[in-house]
Amino acid sequence: METAEIRRRFLDHFEKNGHTVVPSASLISPDPSLLFTVAGMVPFIPYLTGQQTPPWQRATSVQKCIRTQDIEEVGKTTRHGTFFQMNGNFSFGDYFKEGAIAHAWELVTGSISDGGFGFDPGSVWVTVFHDDDEAAALWKKVAGLPDERIQRRGLLDNYWHTGQPGPGGPCSEIYIDRGPQYGPDGGPVVDEDRFLEIWNLVFMQEQITDVKAKDDFVVVGELPSKNIDTGMGLERVAYLLQGVENLYEIDQVFPTLQKAAELAGTRYGADHGDDVRLRVVADHIRSSLMLIGDGVTPSNEGRGYVLRRLLRRSVRAMRLLGVQDRTLPELLPVSKDCMKAAYPDLESDFARISSVAYGEEDAFRRTLQTGTQIFDLAADETKSKALTALPGDTAFKLHDTYGFPIDLTLEMAAEQGLSVDEAGFRRLMTEQRERAKADAKAKKTGHADTGAYRELREAGPTPFTGYEGLETDSRVRGLLLDGVSVPGASEGETVEVVLDRTPFYAESGGQDSDAGVITGDGFELEVLDVQRPVKGLVVHKVRVLKGEVISGQEVAAKVDREWRIGACQAHSGTHIVHAALRQVLGPQALQSGSYNKPGYLRLDFAWGQALGAATRSEVEEVANLAIRRDHPVSATYMPLERARELGALALFGETYDEEVRVVEMAGSWSRELCGGTHVGHSSQVGLVTLTGESSVGAGSRRVEAFVGIEGFRYLATERALVSRLADLLKVQPDQLPERIERLVAQVRDAEKELSKVRASALGARAGELAASARDVYGVAFVGYEAPAGTAADDLRSLALDVRGRLGNEKPAVVAASGAGDTGRPSVVIAVNEPGREWGVKAGALVRVAAQTLGGGGGGKDDVAQGGGTDASKIGDALTAVEHAIGETVTRGS
Ligand code: ALA
Repeated sequence: METAEIRRRFLDHFEKNGHTVVPSASLISPDPSLLFTVAGMVPFIPYLTGQQTPPWQRATSVQKCIRTQDIEEVGKTTRHGTFFQMNGNFSFGDYFKEGAIAHAWELVTGSISDGGFGFDPGSVWVTVFHDDDEAAALWKKVAGLPDERIQRRGLLDNYWHTGQPGPGGPCSEIYIDRGPQYGPDGGPVVDEDRFLEIWNLVFMQEQITDVKAKDDFVVVGELPSKNIDTGMGLERVAYLLQGVENLYEIDQVFPTLQKAAELAGTRYGADHGDDVRLRVVADHIRSSLMLIGDGVTPSNEGRGYVLRRLLRRSVRAMRLLGVQDRTLPELLPVSKDCMKAAYPDLESDFARISSVAYGEEDAFRRTLQTGTQIFDLAADETKSKALTALPGDTAFKLHDTYGFPIDLTLEMAAEQGLSVDEAGFRRLMTEQRERAKADAKAKKTGHADTGAYRELREAGPTPFTGYEGLETDSRVRGLLLDGVSVPGASEGETVEVVLDRTPFYAESGGQDSDAGVITGDGFELEVLDVQRPVKGLVVHKVRVLKGEVISGQEVAAKVDREWRIGACQAHSGTHIVHAALRQVLGPQALQSGSYNKPGYLRLDFAWGQALGAATRSEVEEVANLAIRRDHPVSATYMPLERARELGALALFGETYDEEVRVVEMAGSWSRELCGGTHVGHSSQVGLVTLTGESSVGAGSRRVEAFVGIEGFRYLATERALVSRLADLLKVQPDQLPERIERLVAQVRDAEKELSKVRASALGARAGELAASARDVYGVAFVGYEAPAGTAADDLRSLALDVRGRLGNEKPAVVAASGAGDTGRPSVVIAVNEPGREWGVKAGALVRVAAQTLGGGGGGKDDVAQGGGTDASKIGDALTAVEHAIGETVTRGS
């Protein structure tokens, strides 16, 4: 049975039983405490905890999920995937244990012709929480399961929560026995490969907090109602019903695996190690596809880092399979074709998705190249010290800075006959992980504090009056100091204030928060920041400028007029720049993030290459023409569905309410879902001046601009700069480029001439220097301190020249050192053949000299080069070389 069919049957079964089908939410978790959506219930958390009233009592969904804590297991077991789809049915205070069990049993064992999955009732096993007699009895009553196929387990296996404070409850899991060929008898408590879990029914009834581990948390109390949250692994059911061995072989994944095998010239099933790699590739590429589809772009932290790791692991696995060429352009389209039936956006959005993925592969290939150079240097050094293991800190640096997985370092070391100090590497990795954990913990304390906000939120959301006016009479609903409710605050204190209603815009949608004052009987508060820490609740961070504020008091809340005018200009300016980018570059140049405040805006958008100067001017021109045309700017409320039909642009990964606000300029020219504040007519933006354009990760660019009067000031400063340059060079401004080009060419010619003169002066010295060689224990030695400004290359040719003149009659060493243009000293040492036979090596001598100069260096036995930081030590360095020669020769004899 195809995966799409399993999905359809699931949703049909629950729709038939009174559930509303809810589309999958984004992989970017709507719950701020979770990086990704890890379960079907995540979008419903506010309904489970009673924070929001659910619009329906029964719901069902097939939710996209990502879990990466077991990433190392992918490919090795039959059941670990990073991306998966969770079929779920939910009851919010409606049916409970009996209903959940009955619905599940009917679907699992219902015949194929009746729309069920047709599993043999004799192959079904279940587990229940150890003291849940009620669930055990229901399994007997509803499904007729015998006692021996109802097993009991503790907190670790049969209690479910997200790992964060929130809802939780005991659960009952459904397993299918795949048969004795897959493992020993004894049910899931004995073997979870033979007995495969397909469905988890969670009896959501408790609010938990202080979660330290799966089985270590504190129950705060009962949830307002008894709920059901279930999760059936779509991929697992698929591999059972498709008669294949594991989730990498199902119809949504296997074609990618086969394509990878074809590229690698191997056959799946021929070699265990290769099979694991092929599965990693197929799994990770699918996960990356889905993540980019939901708007994640590769970066070094958070979600972006997870994506980067998935993409790089798959490229790397292909490399281990022997494929050196770019792989994603071959593999990603295959994965997309497997997934597009369930997620049609993948097809329409593929230009953007693929450009992000391919850009990351290219970046990784460059990383591999630089890292390889670092690796080669380290390997040479290891060998020159006659060591056999690459140091752990080198392996760690390669991993940490260059993204080299340890197995890549191991493999490259082996190619050079070296091992790696893996213990040292692991120690450094552990240290880093501990640091990361400590950081994460420090961050999380912020999370626990939302309790006080939630209490204030219970009295209802904070109405925003700031679209209509800048001043509102209101009342202090509550005051918080360091997350704790306080009755009042006095002069000099910084506290958080919640009002009954507010004209202050809370930072969101890229727009910075409003500035202004809140005043009342004898007190005045300066608003420093405005945020919405929990949905619907506006919190003002204020400093008490004078007097004392007390909860319950009447206030006047006043937004700073100038600030707000600037904020509106900057936000409308952002929409204008976005529309201009898409008009000039094409509709795929979609915004992925933005930030704006009075006078300034920046906008990140999906685009693979730098914009040339001409393109930048064109964008600027289109934007400023739109300003000049004075389009009316309107904001309208409409159902989300209608906004989508109109093609209104929404941000990836944002979740929107059913009723949305759409901001328009010139009809469809710019139409975005947006809660921000805007000007009434585009001409009020005044002016937009792009000031910069840069890369913010693969496939993503950033433009920055000044807006309104700040745009004018920026241009005025540039004009002043041009006029100063024109004065200095004594030309008209329009002649500046030509004049500067001429000057640059003159300087270049002069430098060339100068270095020729220097080289010939040095050449002339070669004969003199050869004649001045001194005898050091039988070695002819020339130590030469070159004049300042001598380039390292010239030192090198001089040393080789002098060595040539000294011939091969007897051992000879030439050491030349001098400071280059930058003032940093270089040193070059050349040793002739008889010298090397005496055991004198250029590489070793350079290390001695460079050390004295405060630097490092190395090289071969015949010539070597190094450098340092302290040019005043050149004389000492040459003396040190002379001593080292003496030591080598006398030790050798
Ligand atoms: N939320 C439950 C799970 O993810 C159903 O297993």
